[in-house]
Amino acid sequence: MIKLLSILVVFLMLHQCVKAQTIPTDKTLIQEGKRLYIANCIRCHNANPTLPGVLGPELYTTPEAVFHTKVPHGKYPAGYTPKRKTRVMPKFKHLEKHVDKLYLYIQSFK
Ligand code: HEC
Repeated sequence: MIKLLSILVVFLMLHQCVKAQTIPTDKTLIQEGKRLYIANCIRCHNANPTLPGVLGPELYTTPEAVFHTKVPHGKYPAGYTPKRKTRVMPKFKHLEKHVDKLYLYIQSFK
């Protein structure tokens, strides 16, 4: 009986480990967002997104919905007044599924 119980305990511990690895926490999402932000955005936006960059505006106060349209499609949601009237920023179609991580990272400042 004790043997059986210890097998069960080991099984449960392993199960917890596997779970901890597969469900991403906010922290891992933020880390991934940081990687993507540095790789794709800081040549124009500031490495500190609460400040303006060489070409792009600060991004900290931009709502999440704007990221979802501007980053992959180059568009703004209806009714939103863009911070800049220029159309310099390229589209990042390949980042469409990663916008939430970029936003989480940007919001992790302050
Ligand atoms: C080539 C320079 C450049 C790169 C690279 C770039 N941006 Fe931009 N971004 C701009 C400029 C300039 C604007 C102002 C509007 C325009 O000209 O397109 C802007 C505007 C934005 C806006 C709209 C802000 C607002 O509230 O009006 C968001 C959101 C944004 N950028 C996010 C990003 C993210 C996230 C990345 C990286 C995946 C990125 N940008 C990469 C130059 C860039």
